[in-house]
Amino acid sequence: MKKVGVAILGLGVVGGGTYKILTEHREMYRKCHQVDITVEAVLERDRAKAIALGVEEDKIAANIQEICSNPDVEIVIEVMGGVEPAKSFVLDCLRAGKSVVTSNKELFCKYSHELEVAAKKNHCGLFYEASCVGGVPVIRALLDNLQGNKITSMMGIINGTTNYILTKMATEGAEYGDVLKEAQKLGYAEANPSADVEGYDATYKLSILSSIAFHTKIPYTRIYREGITDISVTDIEYGKKFGYVLKLLAIGKNGDGGIEVRVHPSFIKASHPLASVNDSYNAVYLTGDSVEDVMLYGRGAGALPTGSAIVGDVIYCATHTNYRYSTFKNTEDASPSTKFVDNFESAYYIRLNATDRTGVLAKVSSIFAKCKISVARMLQERGPVGEDGATPVVFITHVTRENNVKKAVELINESEEVAKVAAVIRVVS
Ligand code: NDP
Ligand code: HSE
Repeated sequence: MKKVGVAILGLGVVGGGTYKILTEHREMYRKCHQVDITVEAVLERDRAKAIALGVEEDKIAANIQEICSNPDVEIVIEVMGGVEPAKSFVLDCLRAGKSVVTSNKELFCKYSHELEVAAKKNHCGLFYEASCVGGVPVIRALLDNLQGNKITSMMGIINGTTNYILTKMATEGAEYGDVLKEAQKLGYAEANPSADVEGYDATYKLSILSSIAFHTKIPYTRIYREGITDISVTDIEYGKKFGYVLKLLAIGKNGDGGIEVRVHPSFIKASHPLASVNDSYNAVYLTGDSVEDVMLYGRGAGALPTGSAIVGDVIYCATHTNYRYSTFKNTEDASPSTKFVDNFESAYYIRLNATDRTGVLAKVSSIFAKCKISVARMLQERGPVGEDGATPVVFITHVTRENNVKKAVELINESEEVAKVAAVIRVVS
């Protein structure tokens, strides 16, 4: 029977889940894959954490060099997170001829080029299924099963923490800060949760997924990003009145005009398949020119769901030696020929806190007309019930362009008749 030794760097949420799956399913892998996978080393600052998981003391390495020089270790699982020292450790392992499996989307998104060059040069595998959408096998689907397609668009809920928060805000009217603490306790959030709530984590994942789907490097810095920190229960409730559900969506489109990539809170119709993706569940809705629509759904975060993706890569790596690398042009930056669309099209939800006097709607309408914005629906509360005694007025626009809305917001905020624009949220069909 083939023996394959692995090392785990970081025994936190994902490392712990991965250790559990590998040890509990060992016999199954021996039977099904004729491979005996054992954890030969771990690197963890907190020795007590390793021992509590059942790791033998002599398997706890003192430093990365011990792992690189350990002949029993063939595959290294990096689940520490962050850029440094994770990047240096992964490069050391690749240079020592070890294949690497990682869940680190920030590292892979920012340094995939350098890591892949090192992996190829040293004839090692580099696997990163767990970096995007937790336990949902979307990377392998894009790299393999969907190659019969030109992928024209992807739209997804790809961050578990924010989906958990938005779900609790919508269903229980819970306060944002309290739910974030719960998500941290459940092990969904990043070490620094601002990466989740400010949308960075989703941009890292969208960068990885759209680069593979569109066969060209999409740096995360080219992705429009807006998090959920300004979202209030008030807007979620108004959205419901129009039949919408609020989600943090990651959107990628590859059309004739160029590539459009963005992450922002979005209202979608309650009947949309993504609207019922709740809690830490994630989903990616892909459209290809052959397959048409495909939706992949499952847990987007957590110890065992993410461990599932890691172990899938470990088994693949342990049973294949003809490593394949990205199907996209993995350059350090975007190709100069890639055109990005920034002034994208969307419908919008715009909430104003208006002063309760004559002429306000006429003024707003004239600004909308000037900015080529046409109103599809409108809702006005009776009397001054909103913030600062103002009257909330909510508009849903027809599809217009991003810059038109930016201009309108500027003009409304400058006008005397209207207190302020309280919220602008894109409405995605
Ligand atoms: P945790 O913080 O729970 O785990 C990280 C572990 O690595 C901790 O035990 C930490 O130890 C250890 N560690 C960090 N730096 C070092 C070091 N220099 N030497 C030794 N040990 C170190 O993070 P997660 O498990 O949640 O996440 C790990 C990675 O997986 C991240 O890249 C994250 O983005 C990604 N990911 C996480 C998911 C999730 O649901 N949590 C899902 C998908 C991906 P200590 O606590 O002592 O600092
Ligand atoms: N913090 C991430 C999330 C973990 O909430 O989606 C999974 O990548």
